[in-house]
This record gives sequence, structure tokens and C-alpha cells, in this order.
Amino acid sequence: PVFSLTISSPTNIALIKYWGKRDAKINLPINSSVSVTLNQRDLRTVTTVSASRSFSRDRLWLNGEEEDVNASRRVLAVFREVRARAGDLRDPKTGQVLVRKDEWDGLRVWVVSENNFPTAAGLASSAAGYAALTFALSKLYGLPDSLADELSCIARMGSGSACRSLAGGFVAWDMGQRADGVDSRARQVADEAHWPELQVLVLVVSDTKKTVSSTAGMQTSVDTSPLLAHRAAAVVPGRLAEMEAAYQSRDFGKVAELMMRDSNQFHATCLDTYPPVFYMNDASRAIVRMVHALNEAAGETVCGYTFDAGPNAVLLTLKRHLPTVLAAANTHFPPKRPVEATLASESLLAAL
Ligand code: DP6
Repeated sequence: PVFSLTISSPTNIALIKYWGKRDAKINLPINSSVSVTLNQRDLRTVTTVSASRSFSRDRLWLNGEEEDVNASRRVLAVFREVRARAGDLRDPKTGQVLVRKDEWDGLRVWVVSENNFPTAAGLASSAAGYAALTFALSKLYGLPDSLADELSCIARMGSGSACRSLAGGFVAWDMGQRADGVDSRARQVADEAHWPELQVLVLVVSDTKKTVSSTAGMQTSVDTSPLLAHRAAAVVPGRLAEMEAAYQSRDFGKVAELMMRDSNQFHATCLDTYPPVFYMNDASRAIVRMVHALNEAAGETVCGYTFDAGPNAVLLTLKRHLPTVLAAANTHFPPKRPVEATLASESLLAAL
């Protein structure tokens, strides 16, 4: 028999960014970060894991292409950590044991994973991907829900930002202090029902693969950027506290401003990296100008932007301002321009 299950995982967008590691092997960051988890209608990864005695080795397909499992230290780490905690696989309906804990050694696993959004274009596809892989394997291997904190650490070993996708709503990833990383994990600060007015809008300006991966870019930044060291030590801690408080009190103007300042500082550290890394392009900068013009014209903050390691913009607004923001986006970027406005979520939902 083949034992199989499918799960879908959301991506998340950092409002205060993770950039830089103190331990690159297990993805321990130099600063804490916070994000919002998006709903799964527009941006998600769907992953199926199957185990069978007739499979001779572990295999993995990402968006239809087979990847070499043994070439990826991150995938191997997730497999190793989940397998170390394996329990009995039970039929969810009848509770009958399908695979006993001590039988797992004889079974290999095939993983099939699909994103419905551009991979590696700075839309946090690795976050959704590793969250999905971790969660799916944990279910297959019969890990109990009580291991949630450990799952967060396992997802983090796959990709740092992935630990934040295991919860919905507003999520903090505490950097932790320990060398083994057990205290470097995500925690939900506010659930998805906390702020239903909040609205995310993704402006896709490019779906090509980024030239410098987050992993490589942040390593060069850690090695060469004095601004990054200053940011992690002296700026982010205060900003995180302010962001958490602003989000809790639903202070949109404050959340948007902190988010924009943090995005700008993150991209400034990329420019301070030597040689510099450029993730934003002319279209990204036009969006930045558009948002500031929009806020100025409105006499209040109706919209904020943030950019990950790519040129695509993620805008945050409130439902009541959505028509204004969409109209501005469409005027600035008429359809012939390579810019597409996608409504990413009506509300920010968890859905694992
Ligand atoms: C700019 O989590 O993709 O999106 O841990 O090396 O896999 P690795 O990096 P990754 O980096 C994400 C960087 C970011 C900011 C963020 O999501 O916090």
C-alpha cells in the first residue's frame, strides 16, 4: 500500500524583516521578526507526501521538476528531524494503526509540491514550501500536535521564514539566545480574526527568478554590511515592540509607517552590502512613490508597502481604502505595463 496525505500551506509577509543569520546551518537569525500570514486563495503551496515499502529512495518534485533530495541540506534536515520523532501512523477516521513506529525504517517517501505563485521571485515561496513539507511529514509520521514548538524549529531549519507560516494572523519569530536553537521559534501574537479590516494587495512586477537568493544575499550582508549589524542590534528590537503594540491596538498609520521604514532599511542594508545586492527595480520604486503620493493626497496613511528579496510589492491597506488604492495602482500601472494587481486576501487567514 501507499500511505498518502495532502496539505496546503500559506505564505507570510514580514512587516519587520529577518535578514542575517548567527548560525547558517540551522537558520538562527541575528534579529527577531514579525509577519502576517496570508490566506490561501492566492498564495499557497500544496504538498502531497506518500510513503511506501515499494519506494527505494526518498524523492521530491517541485512544480513538476524533480529535485535531488540528497543535494539539499535543508530538505534532509527536515526529513531527519521529523523521522527522529516518528510515531504510529493511524487512519484518521478509524484510528487503526497503519504503520507502526518501528516500521518506518522500511519506508521511503515521495514529496510532490506545487506553488500557485512565482517561485523565488521574492514572494516567500520557501516559507510556504518548508512549512508545507514540515507539516505534511509530521502528519505522515504521526507526530502529535503537542510538538508544535518543535515543528516551528524544524520548519525554521528548512527556511527561516517558514516557521512563521505555521500559524495564522500576526506572528512573531523570536530569535532566541541558545546555540541549539530550541528557543528560536514562531509564536502567534494575534489571530486572523483580530483585524478583519486589514487588506493585503500584491503587485507583481516580475515573476522571474531572483538573481541573488535570500540565503546568499543575507550571508554577504552579515559579512560586509556595518549597517546590518547596527540595524539588528539597535533598530529592530525597538521597532518590534512598537509594531506589536500598534498591531494589537489596530493603529493602521503606525503599522504602515513601521513596515515601510523597515522595508526601506532592509533594502538599504542590501545597498550597504559589498558587492551590493539590488532587489527593488524601477517599477518597485515607482510603487513606493505612488504610495507616498497617495497618503499625502489623502491627508492620512491609507496604504503601506513592503518588499522582500525581490521587486514585487506587497501593499497593506484597510478595506475601506481599497478602491482608492486599486484605482491609483491601475492609473500608475495601466495593463500594458508588466504590473498586475492581485487581491491577495480578504482577510489574513491561517489555514493549516
Ligand atoms: C527578505 O527565509 O527565505 O523575505 O532562512 O535562508 O531560507 P533562509 O531565508 P528566507 O529569507 C526571507 C527573507 C525576507 C524577510 C523575511 O521574510 O523576514
